[in-house]
Amino acid sequence: MNRKNILVTGGAGYIGSHTLVELYNSGYKPIVVDNLSNSSLNNITGAEQIIKSKIDFYKVDCTDFEQMNKVFKEKKNIDAVIHFAAFKSVEESVRHPDKYFSNNIRSLETLIDLMNSHNVNNIIFSSSCTVYGTPEFLPVNELAPFGKAESPYGETKQLCEKLIEKSTINSISLRYFNPVGSHPTSLIGDCSADKPNNLVPIICEVASGKRESMQIFGNDYNTIDGTCVRDYIHVVDLAKAHVMAVNHILNNTKIKTAYNLGVGKGVSVQEVIDSFQKVNNLKISYELGPRRSGDVEKIYSDNTKINDELGWFPVMSFESGLESAWNWEKLKN
Ligand SMILES: NC(=O)c1ccc[n+]([C@@H]2O[C@H](COP(=O)([O-])OP(=O)(O)OC[C@H]3O[C@@H](n4cnc5c(N)ncnc54)[C@H](O)[C@@H]3O)[C@@H](O)[C@H]2O)c1
Repeated sequence: MNRKNILVTGGAGYIGSHTLVELYNSGYKPIVVDNLSNSSLNNITGAEQIIKSKIDFYKVDCTDFEQMNKVFKEKKNIDAVIHFAAFKSVEESVRHPDKYFSNNIRSLETLIDLMNSHNVNNIIFSSSCTVYGTPEFLPVNELAPFGKAESPYGETKQLCEKLIEKSTINSISLRYFNPVGSHPTSLIGDCSADKPNNLVPIICEVASGKRESMQIFGNDYNTIDGTCVRDYIHVVDLAKAHVMAVNHILNNTKIKTAYNLGVGKGVSVQEVIDSFQKVNNLKISYELGPRRSGDVEKIYSDNTKINDELGWFPVMSFESGLESAWNWEKLKN
């Protein structure tokens, strides 16, 4: 089989590793570049076990021009790049903004330079719904303007989308809402070296006893039960959207677009905790606390554009996301 080469930066990470599997299963050859700053080689070996094939892996930092140049030279025919590599903690970005601007922006700038000099013309970029800040209308669609970034992390995503927009490269920015869950085999998942900042990984840590309890930040918002509302998307559905984006960009010229990648349904923090307890048949210890600064009250996606243009629809249930997240946490320990 003559597989097209897809360079996957950050491919050892949570979303990247799931995407490797879907790319391979759809006939592509993923080539991974990752410095393992927030992940583990276990995700590469796990993905290899799932697809029953070796994956080319380079332990390289994307901001290192020389090392990245070597990868481009060695791999000659790269058909497209999926750029996941970035730091992703909103909370850490507030404490260390320079770390985020330096890594997230420089890795993309380096990549664009190399893509230009090696004639690689297609990029899929990992963006985020944080680009909208607090949207004026819900569900938010892609016509909404970039809002005031709530964190340096969110600002890096806005700046990266603008950098890509200005380049001459064909591009699709995928604006993820809130990824949850793991591959059903539990062989790959989120191995963030940092303390988790996302809701479901935190719930998993409480369930496993790593944390005694957790706090819900605010229960006086204008939402169904007063807690913040988000749009949770199963990571396998998210990974599949990347394959559809690659198919689309390789079959069309002159693409510069962005898609929301969410289920289109708002779920409150309280509802997530309640469902997690029910699905996994356990009790989570939590308390209600004050609002946290920078939190958006509610955000969920209008996903019509990606439905219509790429034919992508979510198929995995929210419950299976919570179940697989817990299975991954149990095996991780
Ligand atoms: N997980 C989420 O909630 C979420 C939501 C919206 C957007 N995103 C974006 O999606 C992408 C992937 O997120 P994830 O959850 O898989 O995160 P992750 O931390 O699990 O994966 C990112 C990977 O990139 C690697 N990396 C970071 N900087 C690098 C560098 N300079 N050179 C080489 N490798 C580097 C890390 O080691 C890690 O393996 C990120 O760009 C993130 O900002 C994530």
